[in-house]
Amino acid sequence: MSDTKRTESAPHVSVNRQNWESRVAVHVGSKFYDVAGFVQARKPRLDSIALAEVGEVAGRDLLHLQCHIGIDTLSWALLGAKATGVDFSPAALEVGRDIAQRLDVDADFVESDISALALDKTYDIVFASHGVLCWVADLKAWVQAAARHLKPGGFLYVLDGHPVAQLFASDPEITKLQIHPGQHYFREQPRRSAWEGTYADPKAKLPNPVTYQGMHPIAEIVQAIRDAGLAVEFLHEFPMDTWQRFSFMTHDGEWWRIAGDPIPLLFSIRARKEG
Ligand SMILES: C[S@@+](CC[C@H](N)C(=O)[O-])C[C@H]1O[C@@H](n2cnc3c(N)ncnc32)[C@H](O)[C@@H]1O
Repeated sequence: MSDTKRTESAPHVSVNRQNWESRVAVHVGSKFYDVAGFVQARKPRLDSIALAEVGEVAGRDLLHLQCHIGIDTLSWALLGAKATGVDFSPAALEVGRDIAQRLDVDADFVESDISALALDKTYDIVFASHGVLCWVADLKAWVQAAARHLKPGGFLYVLDGHPVAQLFASDPEITKLQIHPGQHYFREQPRRSAWEGTYADPKAKLPNPVTYQGMHPIAEIVQAIRDAGLAVEFLHEFPMDTWQRFSFMTHDGEWWRIAGDPIPLLFSIRARKEG
C-alpha cells in the first residue's frame, strides 16, 4: 500500500509532527511502552475497555488511526485482524514496521495526516485510542476521513481522553483537582504549549516541545459523527485513564484513577455506517 501524500490540512500539523518525531526515540526506550517486553511476550497489549467494546476482530480489516509506534496496531494483528496503522510521523511508523518484523506479524503502516487520508481500501473497523482527538484541529475533516474508509456495516470506535479532564491543571506540584486558568471547554482554537516532557517520560527534554492541541466538547464529537452519516451505537464515560494525568492519581493494576472517581477521564463512542 502506498503512502498518502503529506498534505498540510492545518497550519499546526507540521509543528505537531516535529514534536511527535522527537518523542519517538524517548517512547521506544521508555518503561511506559516497554517495546522489548511486547516483542518478547508476543501477546496483544490492549486495555480491557477497548477489547470489550471493539469485540471480535479475527479476519476483519482494521484501520488504526494515529497508530504511533504500532503497539495497538500489532496487538489487533496478533488477535487476527488484517491491520493497517496510519500516523503522520515517519519515525513512529519505522518503529512499527520494525516491531512487526521482529514479531513476524503482518501489518501495513502508512504515513498521512489523518484529515487528508485517502487510501484505496475500506475497512470493517476504524479504531483510534488514547491521545487522538486533542491533536485534531478540524474535527469534521478527521471524522469524515474515518467514515470514508469504512465499509457499509463497518464501525468507527474511538476511546480517548475526555475533554472535561483537559480542563484541569496537571502540573506535578498540584495535589488536587484545580481548573487550569488557560483552559476552556468551548475553546475553538488549538492551544499552544511548550512542555519538554512526554506522558511516557515526564522528565524527558524534547528538542521540539511546542504543540498545538484542540479541545472538542462531547456534543461536538457526537454531532461530527452524525454529520458524517454514521449512527451512534453507544457513548460511554469512564473515571480512569491509562496514564498518570495528575500526580495525585493511584494505579489499580490496570488504570490510573482519582480517589472517589469524581470526573470523567475517558470516553468511548462506537458509530456504524449503514449497511
Ligand atoms: C498519543 S499518540 C497515540 C497513542 C497510541 N494510541 C498509543 O498508545 O501508542 C498520538 C499519535 O497521533 C499522531 N498524530 C498527531 N496528529 C496527527 C495527524 N494530524 N495525523 C496523523 N497522526 C497524527 C502522533 O504522531 C502520535 O503518534
